[in-house]
Amino acid sequence: MALRAIRADITTLAVDAVVTAANAGLRGGGGVDGAVHRAAGPALLEACRAIGGCPTGEARITPGFGLAARWVIHAVGPVWQGGGAGEPDLLAGAYRHSLALLRDAGGHSIAFPAISTGVYGYPPERAVVVAVATVRADLVAHAAPLGDLDVTFCCFDPTTLALYQKELAP
Ligand code: APR
Repeated sequence: MALRAIRADITTLAVDAVVTAANAGLRGGGGVDGAVHRAAGPALLEACRAIGGCPTGEARITPGFGLAARWVIHAVGPVWQGGGAGEPDLLAGAYRHSLALLRDAGGHSIAFPAISTGVYGYPPERAVVVAVATVRADLVAHAAPLGDLDVTFCCFDPTTLALYQKELAP
């Protein structure tokens, strides 16, 4: 298994699947979702409209359209409400479901943004712990013969990158 953290604009990555931090209506938005929709083009919003929506803690997959990535996985993280409203489980679900969609599609590489840590207000230092633990556990559970996945945590700011690097350190 390969797990890494980098600082980049996720829309520039040539991976099989780029994950966006979507809302439950899959209506597009600002932040990473806005960037992904702009880079993929209007066909992405059409594909989202056809799907209709996605419950919090789950994800949906569409083609990548104008992106270098073959697919976009629209993951819906929770809005932070103080931590007592099931936020960690919902955040973990968004990561797990995204990996399951990638495997079902036959993909091998995926890049995640720091889901829920922007507009949705999830404290980054807590979200990073959930993200890394969830992905690690999932990769261990689905080890060979299903094949290894290549997972990139793509950060927009140096503070978030430092949190991932600390969490990923052996
Ligand atoms: N590449 C990588 N990461 C990015 C990019 C980008 N181009 N743009 C923003 N980010 C980072 C932010 O810095 C933040 O760390 O993505 C992380 C998630 O922030 P948001 O995009 O605000 O996502 P989230 O907190 O999950 O809120 C989702 O915002 O845009 C709406 O439609 C979206 O309603 C949904 C909500």
